[in-house]
Amino acid sequence: MTGQTAAVTGATGFLGTRLCDLLLEAGWDVRGLSRPTSDRGDLEGVDWHVGDLFDDETLRALVDGADVVFHLAGVSLWNATPEQVHRVNVDGTENVLEACRDVDAGRLVFTSTAGTRRPPDDRLVADETDVAEPVGAYQSSKARAERLVDQYAETDGEAVTVHPTSIFGPGDEAFTAQLLSMGVDPTMPAHLPGGLSIVGVSDVVDGIVAAAEHGVNGEHYLLGGENLTYNQAVSRIANAVDGSPARIRVPATAIHAAGPVAEVASSVAGIRMFPFDRQMAQLATKRLFYSSSKASEELGYDYRPLEAHLPETMAWYRSEC
Ligand SMILES: NC(=O)c1ccc[n+]([C@@H]2O[C@H](COP(=O)([O-])OP(=O)(O)OC[C@H]3O[C@@H](n4cnc5c(N)ncnc54)[C@H](OP(=O)(O)O)[C@@H]3O)[C@@H](O)[C@H]2O)c1
Repeated sequence: MTGQTAAVTGATGFLGTRLCDLLLEAGWDVRGLSRPTSDRGDLEGVDWHVGDLFDDETLRALVDGADVVFHLAGVSLWNATPEQVHRVNVDGTENVLEACRDVDAGRLVFTSTAGTRRPPDDRLVADETDVAEPVGAYQSSKARAERLVDQYAETDGEAVTVHPTSIFGPGDEAFTAQLLSMGVDPTMPAHLPGGLSIVGVSDVVDGIVAAAEHGVNGEHYLLGGENLTYNQAVSRIANAVDGSPARIRVPATAIHAAGPVAEVASSVAGIRMFPFDRQMAQLATKRLFYSSSKASEELGYDYRPLEAHLPETMAWYRSEC
């Protein structure tokens, strides 16, 4: 696909920056959406379109003539209120689709989340068919946006949806920084009873490009990594970097009883940890494990173990966090 044009929303974010890097390296012409206030970092070679998801003119210019529209822009409860989450993730996605309908835009690849899927049972691994009842504003907004994208794929144009699990890599001050701090800092208060699928950012961007190239119109692809309990993840990080892992475990009963994990963590160690609410605290104690078999078979997707992503992530963590 070298020599083609990509339009990227969320180009200034953790994932978007890496995607732009990869596309530029592969010879794509890259247009990026940037808000006037966005930190564009040291991305060189991107043709910036300045505006946001609510500037119709900017969006149309961004996607017009693009071979692929990578829609990554979104907010979560880490950095926005439930109302903002709905507005950006649902209304913003509708605006991108509207712009694609209005002009000559190629295939859309929408980045949702694995959180709209869930294993039916703690002992099982979820796949794309395990559509879950959304928990919280973020999952609800992504589920709504997925339906808009599916509709678009049925009636208006080509679209595929990817569902990354928990993304690990340099530049992520939320999940990655917290997980690393649990692996290297013994004063951190908690590792949680549940588990999750941890995927390196470089594997996710490879998967997103593979979805653009090989994904089937209207289909959904989980882009996961290793399924690990928090305990395993923290121990593996500690072993690999010779760190001292967190010693104080927050028990599931404490999380369930106390409601928000933030309240539990602060009562255990006086440190505020997660912007989770009561329902999310329930989820945090579960094993949220995922299969990426469909992406592997249909897209040629592959992921590497946690240790493969540690050197560059630790280098970033030590210098920035
Ligand atoms: N990180 C994960 O573990 C993970 C897992 C699954 C799915 N995802 C999804 O992957 C996507 C990218 O996530 P990320 O971790 O890269 O997030 P991020 O670092 O917070 O980046 C979000 C991007 O969206 C942009 N954005 C937010 N509101 C906007 C608006 N109103 N108009 C235009 N742009 C706007 C941000 O612009 P500014 O630079 O101006 O803020 C930024 O470029 C999101 O859709 C997220 O839901 C992430």
